[in-house]
Order: sequence, then structure tokens, then C-alpha cells
Amino acid sequence: MSPLTQFDVLALRREFPILQQEVNGHRLAFLDSGASSQKPRVVIDCLEDYYRRFNANVHRGVYKLSEEATFAFERARGKVARFVGAASHREIVFVRNTTEAINLVAYSWGGANLGPGDRILLTLMEHHSNIVPWQMLAERTGAHLDYIGLDGEGRLALEELDTKLSERTKLVALTQQSNVLGTINPVRLIAERAHAVGAKVLVDGAQSVPHMPVAVKELGCDFLAFSGHKMCGPTGIGVLWAKRELLEAMPPFLGGGSMIKLVELDHSTYADVPTRFEAGTPAIGEAIALGEAIDFLSGVGMAAIHHYECELLAYALDRLSEVGGLTIYGPSTPVERGAAISFTLDGVHPHDVAAILDSEGVAVRAGHHCTQPLHHHLDVPATTRASFYIYNLAEEVDRLAVGLEKARKLFA
Ligand code: ALA
Repeated sequence: MSPLTQFDVLALRREFPILQQEVNGHRLAFLDSGASSQKPRVVIDCLEDYYRRFNANVHRGVYKLSEEATFAFERARGKVARFVGAASHREIVFVRNTTEAINLVAYSWGGANLGPGDRILLTLMEHHSNIVPWQMLAERTGAHLDYIGLDGEGRLALEELDTKLSERTKLVALTQQSNVLGTINPVRLIAERAHAVGAKVLVDGAQSVPHMPVAVKELGCDFLAFSGHKMCGPTGIGVLWAKRELLEAMPPFLGGGSMIKLVELDHSTYADVPTRFEAGTPAIGEAIALGEAIDFLSGVGMAAIHHYECELLAYALDRLSEVGGLTIYGPSTPVERGAAISFTLDGVHPHDVAAILDSEGVAVRAGHHCTQPLHHHLDVPATTRASFYIYNLAEEVDRLAVGLEKARKLFA
């Protein structure tokens, strides 16, 4: 493999305490960042610092700790806004995760804007979190779902836009990067086509925002959803970005404290955005620590991260092609995909593959990866997935390949 670095990956790796351990007698090779990334020391310390020094509720107390917590919480919102190129911090809604962000849009925007006969266009590679909320919305409103299919290498069949996108389409919701195939979708092109028929565009950025520079203006979308825990931040904090005029026209999702202006016995008026969508006590420390994660990633540089992962991916595709009986799903050219590789090994169940790799200290995910329709399309019940991040090394790819050879021999 070529010298990788625009940053010192070994030094960076030392910032992640969890990676310093052994698992089953081997150094941990963590290849499941697509499910959840590991956290650097600064993020862990930031969360602890909040709870040790200034834990208090936000937007409520007229005392020092609460003011400090509120300041840090709102500063984190500003960091998120800059990270994705939002026009204003008011376009950033803190939610629990990508799933909640999509459900918020489906319930609130979808409930107000869709009716019988309207159509929602999805793709066959969507995660369940970008399918089920739309099915629920379709049941409530009488709208219909359409799906863009895939070609033989797991790319979107873009020619289907000609027939599946019409003036009845009110929303196109798609992932920027498949969590299974790794495919990176041409969101901007699709958004232009969608806008030409008057549809809005929601992008599931769970697998892209952690790995590459993402700017909402360049994507050309209307909604972007992503999770903190896949980008070095804590669990329990995620983000919905939406164009301000859309957010301002949307009714609330959850009702309760914080999200109101005035509550009377028979009705209430609602707070301005984004507070209108943040009912109840938010994940305060987690939001602040997400801001710290963004500082950490920005310090490395998102372009440098993407570049590094592209090199690692190219090496992995090459190295895994040497493993007999292995079928890799998704585009064969690294430039079209991110660093998540799903595969099947002839004669070995994906869960057995994962268990054997685990015995070698290599952590991967096996199953349908919350994409049953995609696996149905691929005609396999399950796959094994290795997904990479900034702290992974070429030698971990080698260990993956050796572990797969071992699994093949064991089951031969
Ligand atoms: N969506 C996460 C994954 O792909 C959990 O593993």
C-alpha cells in the first residue's frame, strides 16, 4: 500500500483509548464503524467534563451553571451548522439520531404536505430508517411509495427517474452513501431532477457526513439527517438540517416543555425554530461532545479523511479479491463508493464468518444491516460487512483477509 498519510494515522489512533486493547488475545481491529464509530479521548473527556463541572438544564435556569450549559449547547449547534454549511444555526435541530430526524420530517412535513395519490420516491438501497417512516406516512395519508432500482454493481438505475419521477412526486428520500454497498449516490443530480418536478429532497447522511466533506448547498437537498455516534461523537445525539423556510412552515413533532411560546388550557402557540422541534430536556452533554467531535474531525480535515479512506478502501478491495469464494457487493471501482464492504463467503454463513473473525480480534457486522429489501434484491439473507474509519490500518485489512481464509478452510 502506498504511504497513506496527509495525517499521522498511528498518532491519531492513539487518541482512541478503546483501540489500545486486546480482544480474544489479539489487538482489536475494529471494522464496524458503519454501525458506530469509536470515540477519541477529547470527546470522552468533554462529556465527563460537562457532567463533572457544569451539568444543568439548558434554556431554563438563571444561574451560572445553567448559563454555561446553555452557552456550550448552543455553541455546539453553531459548530454543526458550520460543519455542513448551513445558512444559519436555526436550521439545525438536535434529535436523537438519523432515524428520529427522518421520522420528524415524515410526521411533521409529510403530514402537512402529502395526501392521497401523492408519491414518495425512495431507492432499493435504503436503510429501514429511510423506508419505514415513509410507509407509516403513506398509510396515514394515502400516498404511494416508489423505488429506484439498482444495476448489477449496486448503483442507482438513474434512467428510472424518467418514469418514476413525476409531478405527483412530493419527496425523494435517499441515502448519500449505502451502509451495505458503499455506493455514493449522485445526490446533486437527483436533487435537480426532483426539484424540476416540484419535489423536495431528503438525504440520509448517516454514512456520508462522518466520512467526507458534506455541504448542504452543494448537495442541493432540502433535508439532511445524520447521527453523532458514527462521527466520533456520543450516542443519543443526531441532527436534522432543513432549509429554514421549510422548518418554519412545519408543525411540531413532539409536544411538551421548551417547544412552546404560550400554553393555555385549550391550546398552545409554538416556539420559533429550531426550539419548536426540541421538546423536553435535550441530550445536553452529548450535543456538546458532538461539537467536540466536529472540532476533532475538522482538525484532521474531512477532505484528508475521505482521501485516506479511499486509499484504504482501494487496498481492501484489492486484498480481498485474493480471497477465494468471496463475493463483494457494490461498485468495483473505489471512486464510486465509501469504505464499507459487504460480502458473502461461499459455504459459510455470515454470522459464522463474523464469529471466526471475532476470535481473531477482528470486529465486523453480520446480518441484513437494517436493509432487508436490499438483501432481498441481492438474493442473500445476510452479508458480512467490514466498515472502515480514520483509525483503521492496512494491516487490519490483511488480518481481515487472513481471517476469511481461515473461515473458508474451517468450513471447507
Ligand atoms: N445503520 C447502522 C449500520 O449500518 C447501524 O450498521
